[in-house]
Amino acid sequence: MSLQQLFASRTLQMKASEIRELLKLLDRPGLLSFAGGIPDPGLFPAKAFAEAFQEALTPDRQAQALQYSVSEGYVPLRQWIRSQMAAIGVPCDIDNILITSGSQQALDYLGKLFLSPGDTALVGAPTYLGALAAFRAYEPRFDQLNPTGNRTAASYREAAQSVQVAAGRGEVKFAYLSPDFANPTGETLSLSGREALLDLAEELNCAIVEDGAYQALRYDGEEVPPVLALEIKRRGTLESCRTVYCGSFSKTLSPGLRVGWVVAAKPVIAQMVLMKQAADLHSATINQMAVHQVAARGFATHVQTLRLAYGARRDAMLAALQAHMPAGVSWTRPEGGMFIWLTLPKGLDGAALLQRALAEQEIAFVPGQAFFADGAGHNTLRLSFSTLAEADIETGIARLGDLLQQIKAEGGF
Ligand SMILES: Cc1ncc(COP(=O)(O)O)c(C=O)c1O
Repeated sequence: MSLQQLFASRTLQMKASEIRELLKLLDRPGLLSFAGGIPDPGLFPAKAFAEAFQEALTPDRQAQALQYSVSEGYVPLRQWIRSQMAAIGVPCDIDNILITSGSQQALDYLGKLFLSPGDTALVGAPTYLGALAAFRAYEPRFDQLNPTGNRTAASYREAAQSVQVAAGRGEVKFAYLSPDFANPTGETLSLSGREALLDLAEELNCAIVEDGAYQALRYDGEEVPPVLALEIKRRGTLESCRTVYCGSFSKTLSPGLRVGWVVAAKPVIAQMVLMKQAADLHSATINQMAVHQVAARGFATHVQTLRLAYGARRDAMLAALQAHMPAGVSWTRPEGGMFIWLTLPKGLDGAALLQRALAEQEIAFVPGQAFFADGAGHNTLRLSFSTLAEADIETGIARLGDLLQQIKAEGGF
């Protein structure tokens, strides 16, 4: 008896990527990996968390810390987030905030909230592959979001409506993007790009899902207001905004505690609270209490430490790329985040290059194809600079340069 024949149709779009299989080979000594898009564990505020958990378990707090709690989230944490959001131009009420188990859970809920099978989600090419995975469960059609391009709202609408869905015709339901230091490119969407996105969403009457996972990690350049801040300026109040903002403590404090948040108009939050009740009741109370304490006592100082450390690693990677890449290779110059995006000469394949890089040079990265909804981008790679020391970044990029020079000598490009 095979239960597979009983699986729902939504599982057809869920598949493990081949790249994940390749990346399982990364756990070996001597390998320099640019693959993981994760924070450096050496930079976790572990001592502050040890104190926070200890305090949460004192006799007067443990009844709350270990108990069931409300789905919306721990009130002092929501109050702290409210002040942070106000500081980046998003004044809101705590009833506009839902705590989620990482921002990944918010992406899943937003797929569930907006997408009926056959509806369209606009996503970047490339985009965060975890967002593609979250949305795919709701059987959408993907179309390419390019706010600074010249595609009209009508052409998006026509393409969406070409799909027959249960309710009649498919619709564009939302545009998803990470405007600050995106995963995988590290790029920032300009102010005019953000305004153009708001115009497009207005014409399409669709939502905007703004993923602010890396927003706090800026190393240089001018800060650009979140899309939600720009929309609040246009409309005067968050309650009439179409943008839903997803935040996360994963890149600043700890991904293991799984604490993120959503900011949106109250009816959106109310519906997402119902989803949270059905899915996991609430995010871990003690983790929310610990995150609140650590954030309240030293978020700004800690983020400053991260900015200095990651900024220096980004600089080291940019310098190494400049020194070692052969002509024909280009890359992004991010102002923040954890990633640099490399474009190889046409005809080269990132997955094949990874196999050689692992076997011949003891280095790893993520082939770019995984980040495209349509499987394009064969000649691209994502390099993360977040976990390696500057000297190792130089060594690893030099090895990548050697491999590419060798492929060039073999007539590969
Ligand atoms: C762009 C982006 N959004 C969301 C997430 C999910 O993060 P978390 O669920 O840990 O908040 C990640 C994680 O890598 C990410 O890169």
